[in-house]
Amino acid sequence: MEELTAEGFDVDPQACYRRWAEHGPVVRVRFADGRAGWVVTGYAEARAALTDSRLSKSGANERWRDGGQGRPEHTHMLDSDPPEHTRLRKLVNKAFTPGAVERMRPRIEAIASGLLDDVETRGGIFDLLESFAVPLPVTVIGEMLGVRDADMAEFRRLCTGLFTARPEADSWRLLHEFLGDLVRSKREQPADDLLSGLVRARDEQDRLSERELVTTSFLLLFAGHETTVNLIGNGTWALLRNPRQWARLRDHPDEVVGVVEEMLRYDGPVGLATLRYASEPLSIAGVPIVEGDFVHVAIDAANRDPQRFAEPEVFAPDGDSSGHIAFGHGIHHCLGAPLARLEAEIAFTRLVERFPDLRLAEPEPDRVPGFRFRGFSALPVTPS
Ligand code: HEM
Repeated sequence: MEELTAEGFDVDPQACYRRWAEHGPVVRVRFADGRAGWVVTGYAEARAALTDSRLSKSGANERWRDGGQGRPEHTHMLDSDPPEHTRLRKLVNKAFTPGAVERMRPRIEAIASGLLDDVETRGGIFDLLESFAVPLPVTVIGEMLGVRDADMAEFRRLCTGLFTARPEADSWRLLHEFLGDLVRSKREQPADDLLSGLVRARDEQDRLSERELVTTSFLLLFAGHETTVNLIGNGTWALLRNPRQWARLRDHPDEVVGVVEEMLRYDGPVGLATLRYASEPLSIAGVPIVEGDFVHVAIDAANRDPQRFAEPEVFAPDGDSSGHIAFGHGIHHCLGAPLARLEAEIAFTRLVERFPDLRLAEPEPDRVPGFRFRGFSALPVTPS
């Protein structure tokens, strides 16, 4: 098959996907850095790829980085295949079930309201990301992990430093040290939180290694942070660009669940970030993939496949967004989906209630460059 280029991908991935899709739902692409891989843009083919056990995740990112030479080694559930995947996911699964998450609703509502109180007190134009979309998920996951109130400001500062378009050089090290200290303190003084549960599983039952303990905490942070921030940011942008949709949500806040689903389909936070490689030969849509080849499932392309969604380029909360794959599919389907959905539901309900006349202060805000995650670097808005 002809090899395609990724020209213009950074600037407009959707235009690139449409160009590639003319060659079929699975194409061979050479990226700007010289590496090549298969990209799946079709909806049906994406779902098939995400459930194909011959497409491995074990050490996939490491292999991609070193050109396929390295020995695959799992570090956390998203980077592993069964049986490691099953063991690691089971350890934290209970905290993320819809029922467990629903019990957090009052607390998440209080955090969201508190952040909007601060915005209202300051008055004027504000950056929705910095003031609201960023601190909300960081505070929620921080509390779940067991960060103490006294350390929360520091935790928020470190996370914000790490998950911005231009992270500070030593943010990784500082956050690593912070988490290391937190693990030590949970060893000495266990509490009823996620990290204490992981420490117990490590120390008393030997169900995960020390390295897995730290990487799992990191995974919960980075898998759940930028994504949720961008869901709130991209979703606000989609609504405010369609003032009729904003007004509709303001008048019918009970429709928020469907609105969030359409936000996930139309401009979900994850783009080309689901890397896998063939552990044995296979074919997708008749395209032969040889052992060792990399396969990227383009979630944001699949969610706009005209074969599956009528008028996919239109943001239509009253349309049919069911079956979107913004949270992936198969055994790696997002662990945090119930939490992300609840945070977004609360964020938008509170936002339309508090600022019914919210408007974009900048009609075309800057997108963060890159295609793995889709979001803005800032989203200036004005309360009226
Ligand atoms: C996996 C999307 C929020 C934790 C995934 C995957 C996607 C995704 C697409 C699968 C990746 C693949 O198959 O290669 C999202 C989106 C979110 C979000 C769009 C927000 C809107 C969260 C939150 C958490 C979280 C809030 C936890 C606090 C995880 C974990 C995995 C995962 C642990 C790995 C699951 C596994 O390997 O079994 N997410 N995520 N995510 N997500 Fe999320």
